[in-house]
Amino acid sequence: MKIVLCADHGGFLLKEYIKKHLSNDKKIEVIDAGTFTDESVDYPDIANDAAKKYKAIHAEYLFSFCGTGVGISIALNKIDGIYCALVYNVESAVLAMEHNGVNALALGGRQLDFDMAKDMIDGFLNAKVLDDSHKRRRAKIGY
Ligand code: RB5
Repeated sequence: MKIVLCADHGGFLLKEYIKKHLSNDKKIEVIDAGTFTDESVDYPDIANDAAKKYKAIHAEYLFSFCGTGVGISIALNKIDGIYCALVYNVESAVLAMEHNGVNALALGGRQLDFDMAKDMIDGFLNAKVLDDSHKRRRAKIGY
């Protein structure tokens, strides 16, 4: 499984934390689309670059991080083929997979406890998309 990660400066530290967890603990192939320092960058640029990488390498998921998760989730959701959930606790992350079947997550690096963010990512990855009434709802928004 390949997972693309991206962050602006507000999400940089959480991206690094999640990157270590995914690659060291879970042995998942992680592609880091930046940013690589805590210097200020614009989240729309980061989102566009990361989505291009995600599509080019046919990665499974795209996990994104900014200060709140809001800006980068908006930017990603403007991109064709990206369905991004702004998640804020473990339940919202699990349901983002089970009910919404998203291919991208956004997390707020200045909002979340980092250990909880790790549990959110694990909860999402361990969940399975449900093939029930939510499938009909997903189809109404194109996926
Ligand atoms: C950057 O300061 C901050 O605005 C950004 O990371 C994000 O929270 C925007 O939604």
